[in-house]
Amino acid sequence: MSASRAIGVIGGTGYVSGELLRLIAGHPHLELGCIASASSPGMDLTEAFPNLAGCYSGVRLASMSELDARWRDGALAGIFCAAPHGTAAGLVDGLLSGEDARRGRIVDISADFRFRDPVVFEGIYGQPHGAPNMTGQFTCAVPEHLAEMATPHAAQPGCFATAMLLGVVPMIRSGLIENDFFISGVTGSTGSGRSPSPTTHHPERHSNLFAYKPLSHRHAPEVETIAEAVAGQRPRIRFVPHSGPFARGIHVTIQGRLRPDAEPTALRTALQHAYRDHRFVEVADAPPRIKDVVGSNRARLHLAFDERGYALLVVIDNLIKGAAGGAMQWMNRLLGLPEHAGLTAPGPAWI
Ligand SMILES: NC(=O)c1ccc[n+]([C@@H]2O[C@H](COP(=O)([O-])OP(=O)(O)OC[C@H]3O[C@@H](n4cnc5c(N)ncnc54)[C@H](OP(=O)(O)O)[C@@H]3O)[C@@H](O)[C@H]2O)c1
Repeated sequence: MSASRAIGVIGGTGYVSGELLRLIAGHPHLELGCIASASSPGMDLTEAFPNLAGCYSGVRLASMSELDARWRDGALAGIFCAAPHGTAAGLVDGLLSGEDARRGRIVDISADFRFRDPVVFEGIYGQPHGAPNMTGQFTCAVPEHLAEMATPHAAQPGCFATAMLLGVVPMIRSGLIENDFFISGVTGSTGSGRSPSPTTHHPERHSNLFAYKPLSHRHAPEVETIAEAVAGQRPRIRFVPHSGPFARGIHVTIQGRLRPDAEPTALRTALQHAYRDHRFVEVADAPPRIKDVVGSNRARLHLAFDERGYALLVVIDNLIKGAAGGAMQWMNRLLGLPEHAGLTAPGPAWI
């Protein structure tokens, strides 16, 4: 395999950025070329991420203009963008503009390139798109759902969306189910990022469980749009997200009905078939627990059914399979590396 390739990261001191740095530190074919921070350029990287001490000795956070200069010099084979939505589009637009700027690959982890049509983004996020002319250069999907892609860059669907799509897309493709999906999901507090808010503050979150934005969360239309693009049929998603009393992990329960003529066991066969060649996704015989996958890039699914319908359970780590790890799968592919490179470490289970 080729020598290490240098990678840039945008997102500085953020949680997803930290996970990207951790994955790059253990990657057999990639190395960190530059990590850009908006708020803290010059800071020692291990001051922001003490868990990475020993991996990046002497490395400092750079400014966006330093990263941009390295990108234009051709020193970076790829860039992960883990900036907030609404900000990422403008940053990516800057990187991809100009004759000398189109040499590497970008994987965006924000919401800004999840939609080919910027009007759809504007409708869901309630703000103008920061780079409407660039959306056609990105493909957004869960990597397991798309064998080939025609664009030079990729977008990661997001954490709740990844968990939901892992269940919804093979259900649609099976042709055995009704098109309504009733979904309840619980996420850990890292899903909201590093900045504290009333709903992520420890006393509110610890030993607590509560729903938010029932039936009105933006991930529902997001999943409908992405699922339609890869499965050819737009599902109707009814989604109720919950905040859980743990730091990382997502558990999603998807319920629906089978078509009147469908054989329930055929649904299980279709699900197993959908993921039989994908090492990060396992269809398990028992209901999965978030500790089965937390700290890893793995997803675990379990299907229960009776004559009235089905319940499909999905667990992932929001920061890895739902963000940095899913994005790494895309970057590996875009750079011609094995898709699983740097992602095979198992989770610790007891954290
Ligand atoms: N957390 C998750 O589980 C998850 C899952 C899927 C997708 N995502 C998406 O991934 C992105 C990062 O999420 P996160 O959880 O890491 O959020 P976060 O902890 O809030 O980190 C975002 C970081 O972006 C940097 N930033 C802020 N403004 C910036 C600007 N104007 N230019 C460049 N960088 C800026 C900040 O670090 P510096 O000030 O150091 O630059 C900030 O810490 C978001 O778009 C989020 O929606 C998150």
